[in-house]
Amino acid sequence: MCRRSIAVSRSGATMRFACGGDINFRRCDIGRPWQDRQMAGPCLRGAPVHRRRSEKNREEYGVAGRLTGRKILITGAASGMGLAIAEKFAAEGAALALLDRNAAGVEAAAGAIGAQGYGCDVTLREAVNEVVTRADEALGGIDGIVNAAGILDIKPFADLDPASWDRMIAVNLTGPYNVVHAALPLMQAAGDATIVNIASTSAIMPLPGTTGYSASKAGLLMFTRCLGMDLGPSIRANVICPGVIQTEMTRYLWENPEHSARAADRVALKRLGTVEDVAQAALFFSTADSAFTTGAMLPVDGGFAWR
Ligand SMILES: NC(=O)c1ccc[n+]([C@@H]2O[C@H](COP(=O)([O-])OP(=O)(O)OC[C@H]3O[C@@H](n4cnc5c(N)ncnc54)[C@H](O)[C@@H]3O)[C@@H](O)[C@H]2O)c1
Repeated sequence: MCRRSIAVSRSGATMRFACGGDINFRRCDIGRPWQDRQMAGPCLRGAPVHRRRSEKNREEYGVAGRLTGRKILITGAASGMGLAIAEKFAAEGAALALLDRNAAGVEAAAGAIGAQGYGCDVTLREAVNEVVTRADEALGGIDGIVNAAGILDIKPFADLDPASWDRMIAVNLTGPYNVVHAALPLMQAAGDATIVNIASTSAIMPLPGTTGYSASKAGLLMFTRCLGMDLGPSIRANVICPGVIQTEMTRYLWENPEHSARAADRVALKRLGTVEDVAQAALFFSTADSAFTTGAMLPVDGGFAWR
């Protein structure tokens, strides 16, 4: 084994090998423990520094994104979580097809990030089939889906009319079925595909006035787990259960400071969630970072569902 020594200067450390050759490392600032840890590991092992680059760095250095080469269909992408996921995935290099019943909104969102945008209602099976065909033609395949389209209608069960029940089941549960079923042959052909469904903490804990919504999301949770069983090993399917996230859907709550503070107080992390919190989880499930994870449920709720 070759002997090695480390020379440390103000600007960095140089590892000198007795058999010839130097490796230079950046200076580890004293007083920044996270950076010391990050740098000290590679320094001691003599391995090249491996760290996650920011989006800005990637642009600057022309480094591939974590989703470069992936072709992903995202529903509910005109607003809220779907939009944030689309923006994050685009920044990570994915080719994207965005679907939303809000045609103008989804076209604007797609235009802003260089994606394909399709106005479509996820409950309309034929229309979904057509979008999947068009997305396949535009992207050259589909190897990822994020089902974020959803609706919420809060009312006590006694007031839950059949139309509201039917609509929530249709959008929140049958919609993801329509999308996954239509894209299945393309995903199977891709051979290494991912499905991410956005359910809710309502899927795992009862809350007043959410009979229809909770039932639809609990169905989506089990739908995803069964997909994980049925579609492996070529397709992984995972589900995110967000708590209260600040979007249009929950505007009625977070716009009222009193309600907002009460909701934040109920979670361990004492704040409401952001779309970025959820987009980060969707990215995890759509990359090889979660390569050995399928049928899993991840709460992104600041510590709410388990309390
Ligand atoms: N905001 C929260 O606190 C919260 C919490 C848990 C789960 N969720 C779930 O997260 C997902 C995203 O919700 P959000 O908070 O971003 O809400 P949002 O209202 O901002 O976005 C939902 C999007 O879905 C689209 N959509 C609704 N019905 C559709 C249909 N039939 N076909 C196609 N598109 C349709 C809407 O046009 C909208 O763009 C939903 O599934 C929701 O149930 C939200």
